[in-house]
Amino acid sequence: MTPDMMKISAAVRALAFVEPGMRLGLGTGSTAARFVDLLGQEVKKGLDVVCVPTSEATRRQAEALGIQLTTLDDVPFLDLTIDGADEIDKELRLIKGGGGALLREKIVATASDRMLVIADESKMVETLGAFPLPVEVVTFGLNATRNMIEMLAADAGCQGDIKLRVAGNGKPFLTDSGNMIFDCHFGRIEDPESLDEALKFIPGVVENGLFLGIADAAVIGGRDGISVLSATYGEEAEAS
Ligand code: A5P
Repeated sequence: MTPDMMKISAAVRALAFVEPGMRLGLGTGSTAARFVDLLGQEVKKGLDVVCVPTSEATRRQAEALGIQLTTLDDVPFLDLTIDGADEIDKELRLIKGGGGALLREKIVATASDRMLVIADESKMVETLGAFPLPVEVVTFGLNATRNMIEMLAADAGCQGDIKLRVAGNGKPFLTDSGNMIFDCHFGRIEDPESLDEALKFIPGVVENGLFLGIADAAVIGGRDGISVLSATYGEEAEAS
């Protein structure tokens, strides 16, 4: 089975989480795009849902499929967001933003009652960080922000190249919100919570691609079939 077939099988399984009347967040990336295609087919058959896209690319795709769209201004609470991820660990901590949509993805996911991650099995990791962590920054004071990221990340135990993301045209990549992205090649992020906290201290940092305590479940497509993983945040809270 190819990675693309695994993505499709995860997207097919995710459809079972969608109920008529739901307010949905639509993720960004190749896996999320598979889900949006399938959702479009269900909408054509009469499924009634209203959706908030996490990027302009997803908005264009969903619009072309005739999916009813809204905004978080009009519908500030969503039932479910379905989105991909670049890395997923056993605790359903994620790295996202490979496609550059991390800011809107995090806003939409946190406005949702539940976040469901869909991915092929290659995204499951023991330790986050082999995938470079995207950090979205404002363009003002870029070098000062880069230095601060380097210093505070080191305090949180993370070191490595911090590279400004470049678009296909050779110019700095710009997000849908007009910001830039540093891809931080840390290799291993032993303590994602500390790193996340450190990055939040930096004024020029808009968001980072660590999604901690946000995903509720993950549908993972693999060679041996589908597995559905559930987060245990609720159980921990009940136990304490
Ligand atoms: C987009 O900014 C990302 O967060 C994507 O969700 C992530 O990069 C996964 O993309 P793929 O499904 O294309 O691997």
